[in-house]
Amino acid sequence: MGIFDKFADLLEQTKTLSSFGQSPAGLKFEKILSPTEAMLNGKRTILLGTNNYLGMTFDEESVQCAIEALKSEGTGTTGSRVANGSYNGHKALEEDIADFYGMHTAILFSTGYQANLGAISALAGRGDYLLIDADSHASIYDACRLSDAQVIPFRHNDADNLNRKLKRLENEPGSKLIIIESIYSMLGDMVPLQDFVDVKNKHDNTYLLIDEAHSLGVLGDKGRGLCEHVGVEDDIDFITGTFSKSIGTVGGFLVSNHKEMDIVRLASRPYMFTASPPPSVVASARQTLSTVAAATDKRKQLWENATQLYTGLKNAGYELGPTISPIVAIRLQDPEKAIALWNGLLEAGIYTNLALPPATPFGWYLLRSSISAAHTSEQIALAVELCTKIGVELGLITLSNSKKANIELVSVKDETKPAALNGSSEKRPRAKAEPKSAALPKADGSAARA
Ligand SMILES: Cc1ncc(COP(=O)(O)O)c(C=O)c1O
Repeated sequence: MGIFDKFADLLEQTKTLSSFGQSPAGLKFEKILSPTEAMLNGKRTILLGTNNYLGMTFDEESVQCAIEALKSEGTGTTGSRVANGSYNGHKALEEDIADFYGMHTAILFSTGYQANLGAISALAGRGDYLLIDADSHASIYDACRLSDAQVIPFRHNDADNLNRKLKRLENEPGSKLIIIESIYSMLGDMVPLQDFVDVKNKHDNTYLLIDEAHSLGVLGDKGRGLCEHVGVEDDIDFITGTFSKSIGTVGGFLVSNHKEMDIVRLASRPYMFTASPPPSVVASARQTLSTVAAATDKRKQLWENATQLYTGLKNAGYELGPTISPIVAIRLQDPEKAIALWNGLLEAGIYTNLALPPATPFGWYLLRSSISAAHTSEQIALAVELCTKIGVELGLITLSNSKKANIELVSVKDETKPAALNGSSEKRPRAKAEPKSAALPKADGSAARA
């Protein structure tokens, strides 16, 4: 058996995806035009799947700070902080993060993935217990593999289920670390945080870590996330987060009020054995982070935009995630139609994320959008209109359950507008022919969310 033979199923799945048109993994943006538009296949395309919640990727001051750092400190650090030392910027950014959260210590990681990997695997060791939500992100599942702790999943967003599992561990001496996320990345649903805090407070030697990847900048008066929004920051032991979404760059962090936290650096392999973030990334992260607390108007716009997209798609008759949030996911049962809808939108000039099992809850096929404060109302209206039109063509929704659908495409021929706005008939998306094999994977319910 050859080393690549185990990928046969994956290869088959890729082929099936490609038989419908574009494959998500093979996409290449030819030019990024703004936080909400790019050139794709020679067409101006609206970006509706980028996690660029505050639209900061082209912020002039952040770009300028990155350029200056690049010129003065070079392109990279070429080593880890433990082996090769820290730059001023690393320390300064950690102080910024700790100040932003009003907490004692922050540790910077090279990505959000590594922040979860490094924090969780170091904090929970042999003899300890990791209690994780069943719908956790892949980085959390991978952290569990790296940790020597015993892993106990609990039902998604079910604090009672967690409570029962913790009760069974009452006489065990090891520490218990609960891991939850603020906004879950596939369906955009939020954790009932107060319930989880109450459960945590009932049990001794029990700690709570929350991943605020999708809520930093998005929730809370000062943009600190769900813990601020719910008013429970004092009850949270550890927060992890990423700079790859609202902050518009790359990098991750762990922040805590526990005074002993610094020692985690020397127990965390994903912190120790990888190169530290480059100066330009650190500089732009610092600049953007400094604007988050005051970005109230952007947050307001973001939620207005999220509401427009969610209600538009709901009124069209689609089944979505349970709540309005900047992540809006259309839930579909039929893999072929999900792929056809994703391709149809792409051909019409709208880029969304196609999420497939086992990365999705309940084996759903998801067309996931993430909204930005930088989207215009016109862009969102167009996305809703096209989702409706293509959904009707594919038989995913019917006009009778589509309350507000206006299925006439806007027919403005203007090269400066996204391809979708031009609406020429030859560009109209069509469902592709039925594939010969149903080689798409079945959900096994056990895999981590991407
Ligand atoms: C919940 C969650 N945590 C962590 C990460 C990892 O973040 P990064 O892209 O910075 O590695 C993601 C990214 O998608 C995420 O959705």
